[in-house]
Amino acid sequence: MPAYRHFALQAAAALLVFCLAWPYYHFRASPWNWGQLSLAIGAVALLAAHFARQPWWWRLIHGAFAPLLWLGLQLSLPPSLPLAIFLLLFLSFPGAVSGRIPLYLSSPSTAQRISPLLPQHSSLLDIGAGIGSLLLPLAHQRPDLHLAGIENAPLPWLLGKLRCRSIPRLQWQWGNFWEHPLDAYDTVYCFLSPAPMEALWHKARQEMRPGSLVISKAFLIPGIRPEEIREEGGDPKATLYIYRIPEGAR
Ligand SMILES: C[S@@+](CC[C@H](N)C(=O)[O-])C[C@H]1O[C@@H](n2cnc3c(N)ncnc32)[C@H](O)[C@@H]1O
Repeated sequence: MPAYRHFALQAAAALLVFCLAWPYYHFRASPWNWGQLSLAIGAVALLAAHFARQPWWWRLIHGAFAPLLWLGLQLSLPPSLPLAIFLLLFLSFPGAVSGRIPLYLSSPSTAQRISPLLPQHSSLLDIGAGIGSLLLPLAHQRPDLHLAGIENAPLPWLLGKLRCRSIPRLQWQWGNFWEHPLDAYDTVYCFLSPAPMEALWHKARQEMRPGSLVISKAFLIPGIRPEEIREEGGDPKATLYIYRIPEGAR
């Protein structure tokens, strides 16, 4: 769901609760109970998110937003605190708003599972490299590889830069992977979300050499049959989908 719809959902929940609350408090001639109202808005938003088939974390955010806002106001927190929290979140998760690609990290075992798929002395680019959770262990396991990562969220990029600074054959880059050419890499690794997969395959086919690999963790490219699927312990989030760029793709 695009970001503006999340705002609209919260606004609609608040409006509905205010419309019901106004006659209620008016006829009882009692002051508005903002604590109860915030809980009611949270409950309506939670229900709406449920019916909009949002993933569990969005339901949680919608359910908790209004009550936490009210709680924050009760605690008389300094007004700069919400701004600081917003900035921190925005610097860490801009991809979640702009491209519906949040930050979550590959487990250390992912590098172990990917390593056997990569030819000797080949190159790999992690698009949306997070804090280097894949690249760093891979660099230690496979000193023959040429590794690169590109990330556009400021805080994860900075953390990744610091973590990877001692490995010269690991290029840690700042930028938007949609604007980054893929033709120099034998393998592109991605752990993104369902939203960009179709467009990503289009880009990879246009730019990558035939025979190169696209390895996607957790997310299928719709309508494209993977060359191989590697599952792990029945956890769909750990599944690796391996795609090979066909001949004559460009
Ligand atoms: C799910 S995380 C994966 C992190 C890392 N690849 C890993 O496996 O641990 C996706 C990352 O992609 C980044 N991202 C989203 N859109 C991007 C873009 N257009 N260009 C570069 N990075 C992007 C996000 O900031 C986030 O860090």
